[in-house]
Amino acid sequence: MSDRYISIEGIARRYPKAGGGTTTVFEDLWFSMRKGEFVCVIGHSGCGKTTVLNILNGLDAPDDGAAIVDGKAIEGPSLDRAVIFQGHSLLPWRSVLGNVAYAVAAKHRDWPKAKVTAHAMAFIEKVGLKGSELKKPSELSGGMKQRVGIARALSIEPKMMLMDEPFSALDALTRGTLQDEVRRICLETGQTAFMITHDVDEAIYLADRIVLMTNGPQAMIAEIVENPLPRDRIRTEVHHHRDYYAIRNHLIDFLVVRSKSFRDAIPEGYDRRHPPVVRPSADGPGPDAGRKAA
Ligand SMILES: Nc1ncnc2c1ncn2[C@@H]1O[C@H](COP(=O)(O)OP(=O)(O)O)[C@@H](O)[C@H]1O
Ligand SMILES: [Mg+2]
Repeated sequence: MSDRYISIEGIARRYPKAGGGTTTVFEDLWFSMRKGEFVCVIGHSGCGKTTVLNILNGLDAPDDGAAIVDGKAIEGPSLDRAVIFQGHSLLPWRSVLGNVAYAVAAKHRDWPKAKVTAHAMAFIEKVGLKGSELKKPSELSGGMKQRVGIARALSIEPKMMLMDEPFSALDALTRGTLQDEVRRICLETGQTAFMITHDVDEAIYLADRIVLMTNGPQAMIAEIVENPLPRDRIRTEVHHHRDYYAIRNHLIDFLVVRSKSFRDAIPEGYDRRHPPVVRPSADGPGPDAGRKAA
């Protein structure tokens, strides 16, 4: 499959400043994803992560450049792409089943009701909510509501799943369980996923690659970190892997130091179209690593 199933090609986003002039959130941003890949984005608040996600969703449009999914430029929202937000945005008057079926029926307008219900139930079961399908959102815990959001997103079998800090409001136990479920379902279905997170361990557990964004305004993609952990990793054992501290320290060093300083010391040969690719390892930096692993 193509390496560029999803790509952003030289995108920029600018806003008028209150007193005149413009703020450039980012410009000339390039990045692409393979089909079935799980990508996490890490960067400080305000650097433009949600803006990139909204452009991929079609809710926002770049001022320059283009975002492309499966060969087509994104123009407006589409049922090809599903979003899971931190708040679950469920319809409060509909049951769990009603919420999921609503999305399924929107995607498959010609399906009879029984087929819509069966399809919705299959995804409700996948996220462990079988038995709660007739409950209203007000009867559900935060974690359960988020599961409904996940079931609804997956039920339309999107080309791409977009997640904006989906688990950050949940307690650690629920967050862990939902991370397991999202990871399992994405692997099982070959789902392509793009997730914003500020949780370094979440990124290490879920992502194949992690995009590091520098602080805004004029944020840049500093580098792309390849996850050295095996794809069949288990959440509760990830921290025992020999490369775990190398990648974890690399990500934290970025957040605490380099996200600010990167722009003052841009590595020689840095190319916005092809940001450096780094694969942290216990054996030290790979051939193209920009710095020493701890
Ligand atoms: N509608 C808007 N008008 C003006 N500035 C905006 C608007 N939306 C976002 N911004 C600015 O764009 C920058 C990036 O925002 P956002 O993408 O939400 O960042 P992140 O998700 O990384 O925290 C912020 O500095 C924010 O203030
Ligand atoms: Mg955001």
